Amino acid sequence: MQNQTINTKIIDGKQLADNLRAEIAEGVCRIKNEKGLTPGLAVILVGDNPASVSYVTAKERACREAGMFSREIRLAAETTESEVVRLINELNGDSAIHGILVQLPLPKHISEKSVINAIAPEKDVDGFTPVNVGRMMIGEDCYLPCTPHGIIKLIEFSGMDIRGKHAVVIGRSNIVGKPVAALLSRRETNATVTLCHTGTPDVARFTREADIVVVAAGHPGTLTGDMLKKGAVVIDVGVNRIPDATRPKGFRLVGDADFESCQGVAGAITPVPGGVGPMTITMLLWNTLESARRAANA
Ligand code: GUN
Repeated sequence: MQNQTINTKIIDGKQLADNLRAEIAEGVCRIKNEKGLTPGLAVILVGDNPASVSYVTAKERACREAGMFSREIRLAAETTESEVVRLINELNGDSAIHGILVQLPLPKHISEKSVINAIAPEKDVDGFTPVNVGRMMIGEDCYLPCTPHGIIKLIEFSGMDIRGKHAVVIGRSNIVGKPVAALLSRRETNATVTLCHTGTPDVARFTREADIVVVAAGHPGTLTGDMLKKGAVVIDVGVNRIPDATRPKGFRLVGDADFESCQGVAGAITPVPGGVGPMTITMLLWNTLESARRAANA
C-alpha cells in the first residue's frame, strides 16, 4: 500500500495563462475604448544572452497579442550603466509607457541594483524595486513580482487550498525564492513556509514533510520523487538547457525537478516548458494593465 503510485496531475500553465490572457485582452480593449489609452510596456535587453533573448521575445509577443504597445529596446553588451539609467529616466517620463522591464541578468560591468533603482516604482511591473519589495513585505498595495505571483495562481489552479499547508521553497533568489516564500506566508494564503538553500544540510528532511514544494535552485535534479510526500504539489521554476543532438536547436529544456521520478508520487506537478514560464509572462501583462488603469484614473 505504502509504495502504491498515484496519478500525478500535470498543471497546465499554458492553459491557465491563456485563460488569464483572454481576461487581460478584454481589459486592454476596455481601457482603449473607454479612456483612449493603450497600455505600453518597454522591454530592455542588454547584450545577447540566448536565454534572455528568448524570454524577452516571448514577453514582447505576448504584449502585442494582448493588444498592448510593446517598445523593444535591444542594447549592445558594451552599453554603459549610465546609458541604461539615462534610458530608464526617459521612459519614466514617457506617458505612452506604463511598465518598464529590464531583463536580468545584466552584463557584469552594470550594477543591477543601480539600474533597478532607477525604475519609477509606479512603472516597476516586475515588482523588483526596493519600494515594491518593501510594500509586498508589509502587505501594502503593490505590483507583485511576476514569477512568484504566477506560482501562487498555479498552486490554486492545481486545486490545492494553500491555507494551513506546509510549503517548502528551495532557493533564495531575490526574483523567486525569497518573494514566493513571502507570498505563501501572507495572511491570505496562510501557509507555513520553510526556505531551503545551499546552506541547508538535508533538504529532503524538509521536502518529505511538505504539502507544496517550489523548486527554484537552477540545477536539474535538485528535487527527486524520493524526496516527496505522496500527493505533494510540485512547482518547478527551473529552466535548464541540456545538450540534446536529437533536437533541432541542439538542446532541450528541463526543470529543477526530476519529472520522471516525481510522477506517481506528486499529486500535481508543473511541466518544463509549459508550467511556470507562461505564467511569469502573464503576470507581467497583468501588472502592465494595472499600471495603465492607474495612469488613466490618476
Ligand atoms: N530574469 C529572469 N527572470 C526574470 C524576470 O522575471 N524579470 C526580469 N526582468 N528578468 C528576469
